[in-house]
Amino acid sequence: MPEIRLLLIGTGQNMLGHIRSLVQLKGVEIVGMADVDEDRLARAMEMLNEPVPGLLDYRELLETVEADACFIAVPNYLHRQVACDCLDAGLHTMCEKPMATSTADCDAMIAAADRNDRFLQVGLSCRFSRVDSTAHRLVASGAIGEPKMVWAREFRAPFAKKYEDWILDRNRSGGTLVEKTCHHFDLFNWFTGACGGSNATRVYGSGGADWVYEDLSRLPEGRTEAEEPTLNIIDNAFVTVDYDTGARAELLLCMFANSGRKLEIGIQGTEGAVIYYRLEFRVDLFDADHPKEPRTIEIDIPDDEMGWSHHGQAYLEQLYFLDCVRKGERPTVDGYVGKRSVEIALAAEESVRTHMPVGIDATPLQ
Ligand SMILES: NC(=O)c1ccc[n+]([C@@H]2O[C@H](COP(=O)([O-])OP(=O)(O)OC[C@H]3O[C@@H](n4cnc5c(N)ncnc54)[C@H](O)[C@@H]3O)[C@@H](O)[C@H]2O)c1
Repeated sequence: MPEIRLLLIGTGQNMLGHIRSLVQLKGVEIVGMADVDEDRLARAMEMLNEPVPGLLDYRELLETVEADACFIAVPNYLHRQVACDCLDAGLHTMCEKPMATSTADCDAMIAAADRNDRFLQVGLSCRFSRVDSTAHRLVASGAIGEPKMVWAREFRAPFAKKYEDWILDRNRSGGTLVEKTCHHFDLFNWFTGACGGSNATRVYGSGGADWVYEDLSRLPEGRTEAEEPTLNIIDNAFVTVDYDTGARAELLLCMFANSGRKLEIGIQGTEGAVIYYRLEFRVDLFDADHPKEPRTIEIDIPDDEMGWSHHGQAYLEQLYFLDCVRKGERPTVDGYVGKRSVEIALAAEESVRTHMPVGIDATPLQ
């Protein structure tokens, strides 16, 4: 199998997770890395079997090292610039979620992929999770009829520390609902569209910074690294999304649940329901044969995957991207899919700020 030569740009927390499984994969060779932060770069370099060029300026890396593809995991506000530069350098590009912090940036990335005839995959990795994809298969099989209501309820801890605290600043992260829950909005799109096309039409959000992100003094010890951090993101929200199929979806996000972490996702259809608990690796199916007590499907994650990033979903995402590059097949989780989740997330942020519903003209899938 010919090696795919890979560049890694942005070697922070997320990329370390990618590297753990990438170095085990056959048919791929990491040939260079870039990060503006020397310590983060050095930590990533230590994980490689062989030394490779490691540069502080990714543009110099693009100019000096021959490669076929790249992984990008820089702060969200840099996705557009870095992804467009990589695509213009002729690299198939796997850019982390959220695709970008504005729809104009998403458009620029899609255009860069098109003009260079390169693939752009967006890191909406839940689509590769064995748990979410089992739920999706059940919905798509018609087992619960037409999906009408989807929900995601997440109780989680605050964000981990990031480079220059970009994640606490809405201008650099896009806001909590862009940075974190673009995954959930993508799942809403995926599930509501599992039995035919669906497009988000309207978003209503209510949320605020009411506890952990109310005040810098509430941040857990060691969670900042900038000297004067900007803190302007929300820490809890309810968001409702209407679809043109008549389906609706609802998000509950709480970022200050230091104990009792939980993520429940459900899809209620016209003939049954799929409800699952992501952190418990099980999916419950209520259908015509199991109307009262569900059929529970335990999700078996192989041991080696379990220890990798996000219980192996990042590894399965890598396999998929590399396979697309190898076969010359365009990834399904492309710029249009990425943009559709950003559209909902930005509308949700706006609705939270304005207390008004926000209409969406969803970008069609290609
Ligand atoms: N798919 C997922 O579930 C998932 C999970 C975590 C993070 N992410 C995404 O990955 C991205 C990175 O997040 P993280 O948690 O690793 O953050 P991080 O702050 O730990 O890492 C970001 C890295 O980018 C580097 N960087 C900043 N500017 C750069 C530049 N101009 N050129 C090169 N490197 C630069 C920083 O030094 C840092 O090492 C974000 O977009 C985030 O949303 C995705």
